[in-house]
Amino acid sequence: MNSLKSSAIAYSNIALVKYWGRHPRLAHLNIPLNDSVSMTKEGMGKIKLQSHTTIEFSSRYKSDSGSLNGKKMGEKELARMRLVVDPLREAAGVPDAFRLASQNDFPTAAGLASSAAGFAALARAAADALQLDYSLGLLSSMARLGSGSAARSLHGGLVWWHAGHSHESSYAEQLCGPNDFPLRAVVAVVNPDAKKVSSLDGHSAAASSPFQKMQVKESLRHAKRMRVAIAEKDFPAVGQLAEQNALNMHAVMMTANPSLLYWEPGTLKVMHAVRSLREKGAETYFTIDAGPNVHCLCRPRDQLKLDRALQVAGIRFRIPVRPAKDSYIARTHLF
Ligand code: DP6
Repeated sequence: MNSLKSSAIAYSNIALVKYWGRHPRLAHLNIPLNDSVSMTKEGMGKIKLQSHTTIEFSSRYKSDSGSLNGKKMGEKELARMRLVVDPLREAAGVPDAFRLASQNDFPTAAGLASSAAGFAALARAAADALQLDYSLGLLSSMARLGSGSAARSLHGGLVWWHAGHSHESSYAEQLCGPNDFPLRAVVAVVNPDAKKVSSLDGHSAAASSPFQKMQVKESLRHAKRMRVAIAEKDFPAVGQLAEQNALNMHAVMMTANPSLLYWEPGTLKVMHAVRSLREKGAETYFTIDAGPNVHCLCRPRDQLKLDRALQVAGIRFRIPVRPAKDSYIARTHLF
């Protein structure tokens, strides 16, 4: 039998309409409460914001093992990998243990969606190694089992995640390809350290905020309007909706029990810098995931100006990004 080994590359994504809070009865499947929209993003400099994952199934391996950025995974991390790998292994009828390695070219767990890229690459590589001919939509459902937002990283460009009401009906589809909407961003990395509270714990706390119901209702409305704005190539509408939606989500985070305050002084500095640039005529908007770092959205022609403004504001580490391509099977293996 051929070696059951494959590698894949997937990019991280930034949510324009957020997923925050899971369906109470379907939380174990990471089924969200509302549809969400994102841009899969590719770094335009040295940092590509990608995750490269290699997996091999073999009877040579006595038990499952893995490494993330060269560091051996513990049992807890391996268990999370199995959430994605086990259903695929079962579908293929392969009883063998796996060895996997995953390498990010950007800070892990700092609000840059490292797990989204990682689990998308894992689903893609594992299905390919097991010779399962799955569509990207089906793979997006599999990646979701490891990390909800990973569902959106199978596709490039701008992506819609159908919340759904079951494993099969909760999947992502592409709204437009990477070159179809002239959108750019500069990621202002305020703090590259791993965040103290994981998104997983945050999703569970969300229901305790008095604002959660409102946020979910608004997100459903934002997602619908965002879909229209994307189809009409209306950048200001996309930016305004994204900024409003992020502020709603952070209001829920801050007012949850325990309260989650992801913003740092540098986060506010960037938010003000973006708004001040906007007052001066360059259309820029911000959005923030579960961390202190800010994604500043702009049109291609304003990207350099935005980057300079962030530098002046004292943000040293900036990553210019554009919509990425789809996840893909890579020729090079990590082991
Ligand atoms: C704030 O549960 O997908 O980024 O698995 O930790 O990456 P991780 O997070 P996940 O929650 C993501 C929440 C969010 C908003 C979003 O991406 O929609």
